[in-house]
Amino acid sequence: MSKKLFIKTYGCQMNVYDSARMADVLAPLGYGLTGAPEAADMTILNTCHIREKAAEKVFSELGRLRAIKRERETDGKDCVIAVAGCVAQAEGAEIMRRAPWVDMVFGPQTYHRLPEMVARATRAAVGNGRSPVLDTDFPAEAKFDHLPEETAPRGPSAFLTVQEGCDKFCTFCVVPYTRGAEFSRPLADVRAEAERLVAAGAREITLLGQNVNAYHGAARTGGTAGLGALVRALDGIAGLDRIRYTTSHPRDMDDELIAAHGEVAALMPYIHLPVQSGSDRILEAMNRGHTAERYLAIIERLRAARPDIAVSSDFIVGFPGERERDFEATLSLVRTVGYAQAYSFKYSARPGTPAAALEDQIPETEKAARLAALQDLLNAQQADFNAATVGRSLPVLFERAGTRPGQLVGRSPYMQAVHVEDADARIGAVAEVTITQGHANSLAGELAPSAAPINQRTADLREGARTVAPGGVCA
Ligand code: 5AD
Ligand code: SF4
Repeated sequence: MSKKLFIKTYGCQMNVYDSARMADVLAPLGYGLTGAPEAADMTILNTCHIREKAAEKVFSELGRLRAIKRERETDGKDCVIAVAGCVAQAEGAEIMRRAPWVDMVFGPQTYHRLPEMVARATRAAVGNGRSPVLDTDFPAEAKFDHLPEETAPRGPSAFLTVQEGCDKFCTFCVVPYTRGAEFSRPLADVRAEAERLVAAGAREITLLGQNVNAYHGAARTGGTAGLGALVRALDGIAGLDRIRYTTSHPRDMDDELIAAHGEVAALMPYIHLPVQSGSDRILEAMNRGHTAERYLAIIERLRAARPDIAVSSDFIVGFPGERERDFEATLSLVRTVGYAQAYSFKYSARPGTPAAALEDQIPETEKAARLAALQDLLNAQQADFNAATVGRSLPVLFERAGTRPGQLVGRSPYMQAVHVEDADARIGAVAEVTITQGHANSLAGELAPSAAPINQRTADLREGARTVAPGGVCA
């Protein structure tokens, strides 16, 4: 590759996937990845707009890049600067105005058109008439039809976007505005991409979507397939040991998907199912379309199908109008579920969303106090969940080298990071590990005595569904 590309990715796994695909689109133009922006002929900031200060972070990064650009251009080198992702989608014109040294601004739905944009912007970069590019359409055509096949070598754990966009319009959220309406890729296309990922070395695939369980891709037989059917369709791929999916919405948790958790051994016993709040009054104001009781009933059904399933969630504290008793209801829901891990945030008003215009915004100090109390509880549950695995043997998919020589890091079926010293298991193998220590955010373990790399499916069948008891109390 003759040219260097630096991509800085912010935010969610969807952006990680998008960044990899941008690299795929640019590879035929001669761009290879570098870790150093100073050495890059092109830098892309792939941005996230979901919570506070996103735009300000991007502008300060752009300030640093401006200096690099000046230096490189003085030396006669290219330095194309691009802003992609949700901040680009939401604030494209403002970026062009405030940071005129930016050459390209494009949203999450248009990066298949990068070659065309680069042609225009590189002409600009070398001074043959400046034509900065702003491309933030939501084209009717699907970008996936125009993306090349993946070219980058992938690790043992790969992401695969199957669904994009959101029609739910939670009142706090920018996603329906930045990512557009719900769209699902046809099942055959997803299966073909999964086969290519496995052929390139993936043993685990995480199916991605802003509302992944709203998936309704065109099926081969006509009609549409839901996520449960998609999981079953991927289950047959030889060499694919682990299937995961994220992020789900409680409203779209259907029987077929719940049943798949009990029947498809490759579907890992872990679900990220955001609830946001435990108060029905707040859930209603958030336009979530479910109550706390309905959420708890789904968790119960998931646990009936797969008793050891680890549950994760997102929470927002300090939504406008949230009273102490609403917050207590959130704590109570957390105690009932018993989370294996979770993400929690202070509500941040996003311009243009309905909740931003609500009166009764909660003072920052109150939000901070609630967040601290919630995180204390969630951290204690996570520590309990991790401690409950000590002494057990778990199949671990090794993903990368650790920081210490000889150390490998992998994941348990429950998404816990597992560190193993002096592991002779190779990266990309699933091996049985005896867990020796449970920490706040990870586990330590030793390869089981006869730990030849094993096949996940065999491991799961041998262990049975109930490998680990959930950390908390089941509702
Ligand atoms: N304020 C705080 N948190 C938010 N999230 C989304 N929008 C906001 C907001 N305006 C959180 C939600 C969501 C996660 C990805 O980010 O919990 O599930
Ligand atoms: Fe945002 Fe709600 Fe859609 Fe999730 S379901 S992406 S929180 S609008």
